[in-house]
Amino acid sequence: MPSIQEIKKNELNTDRFIEEKVREISGLVGDGVAINALSGGVDSSAVTILGHRALGDRLKAYFINNGIMREGEPQAIARIFEKLGVKIEIIDAQDEFFNALKEITDPEEKREAITQTFYKDVFGRLVRKSDAKYLLQGTILTDVDETIAGIKRQHNVFEQLGIDPEKAFGYKIIEPLIQLRKDGVRKAAAALGLPESIYNRPPFPGPALAARVIGAVTREKIGIVRKATTVVEEELRNTGAFQYMAILHEDKVTGMRENKRDFGLQIEVRCWESVDARKATPTKLPYETLTKLADRIVNEVPGVVSVTYNIASKPPSTMEVV
Ligand code: XMP
Repeated sequence: MPSIQEIKKNELNTDRFIEEKVREISGLVGDGVAINALSGGVDSSAVTILGHRALGDRLKAYFINNGIMREGEPQAIARIFEKLGVKIEIIDAQDEFFNALKEITDPEEKREAITQTFYKDVFGRLVRKSDAKYLLQGTILTDVDETIAGIKRQHNVFEQLGIDPEKAFGYKIIEPLIQLRKDGVRKAAAALGLPESIYNRPPFPGPALAARVIGAVTREKIGIVRKATTVVEEELRNTGAFQYMAILHEDKVTGMRENKRDFGLQIEVRCWESVDARKATPTKLPYETLTKLADRIVNEVPGVVSVTYNIASKPPSTMEVV
């Protein structure tokens, strides 16, 4: 397998990069159709614009509502792109994902269940429906590195693991961002005319909120971690941190409400300083910020009696818990 030639942010000439990638996509897809899934993250957003520039209406852009995204996310992202002239179709696949995740507790099995549901079931169906031969996706170099190193199986890495997507799923994959890391993608996304809310958006994992539930994923647990995520994102938005998240623990702990025992849930908050996600340290948040987070989470998220803040660095920690 040829090694991938990294393009560092300071070496990236965005005009030339965009022109080359648009030409490459047009050349591969010819007069056919390609599909892509937009998640609203900077990687898939940049790919959506590149694909739209190369193919116009022959790019079918979908937002897969897998049931594990944040509050109101599918609609909010579709609106941003419609303003940019790119039509996004929202696909409701919630039942499929929750069924696939049922009773799975092992982190890598969870990731695999999400991968298979995305690529085999949902994309397989969309490819057949649209007659597309290609899927465009926003894999970046860090995804490949961490998967090859066996740290975490990123949901979007195949060829580097010896998996031929055409044989496994029935379509080819085009990865225009594979030579870049996150900082390079942000630079390219800004040059593509995406709004700052997108090109500076904190990263969010492919397995979405399922990466933030320890143990088996259910609709109910996703509902809880989603509410906690809303609070954490509102309170930490202005910290300038690389990423911040709420995690729902599996173990319950004894708490008390209205003078009665309440055997309740634990939420862990993580907030990270990092350049490219390869190493990270916890942000030194002011104590008042931590207290406000705790107060809001125990009051606004049903069943939560304990809130903790992670103080260990990556490595040996990783940023997500799953
Ligand atoms: P970790 O937890 O490996 O995360 O330290 C590093 C960065 O990658 C994101 N992440 C993922 N992104 N698919 C993705 O697209 C995944 O499976 C995945 N796992 C982690 C994570 O949010 C962090 O920014």
